[in-house]
Amino acid sequence: MNILAPSMLSLDFRHMEEDLLAAYNAGARQIHVDVMDGNFVPNISFGPPVIKYVRKVLPDVTMDMHLMVTEPGRYMDKWKACGADIVTFHIEAVMDPVQMVRSIHENGMRAGVAIKPATPVSAIEEIITEVDMILIMSVEPGFGGQSFMPVALDKIRETVLLLEEYGLKTDIEVDGGINLKNVDEILEAGANVIVTGSAIFDSDITSNVLNFRKHLEG
Ligand code: DX5
Ligand code: ZN
Repeated sequence: MNILAPSMLSLDFRHMEEDLLAAYNAGARQIHVDVMDGNFVPNISFGPPVIKYVRKVLPDVTMDMHLMVTEPGRYMDKWKACGADIVTFHIEAVMDPVQMVRSIHENGMRAGVAIKPATPVSAIEEIITEVDMILIMSVEPGFGGQSFMPVALDKIRETVLLLEEYGLKTDIEVDGGINLKNVDEILEAGANVIVTGSAIFDSDITSNVLNFRKHLEG
């Protein structure tokens, strides 16, 4: 199943509730929440005091947390308390990915693993049978509004082949620079969870979500 996950990094925080509701009411059932600590990436976004309101505004949405932080395992109780459903960590940020996945699962959440554009797909093979989602970054993490890096297409195809080898049907999420013009080739390459920030929130949210859904739902 294809899933649209608008990234709240790009919404206008003067009216966060209104923007989240517009995306949800147009049919977005997953919200991508980018947490940045100014250390793992050269930017700072928001943390639990803001994120907890996403769950209050949208009780039924799937909350998809993308942790761009150093030592992501330190805050597991916080992500849980915020209402996270999926916690995705960067393979580059942890010493012990097996333990990280275990800890996410022990806290009752789904586990995702992310790789930066320069990190090979082989880096996640060690935990491929354990994770619920694989996130292929198609920009350098840290900022919205960047251009899609085509290297991600090859990495999606490689991930599909690796999952086939293991007989798995794990979700493949892609994040960064996705718009209505390039989304089809990303889906064709084999991704099924589409993150998009500026292409949803920088203009008419309702029509943007409806247009993306046409591509995702066929
Ligand atoms: C970048 C974030 C992305 C970002 C995507 O580090 O992980 O989720 O919000 O924004 P766009 O779709 O504008 O590239
Ligand atoms: Zn993200």
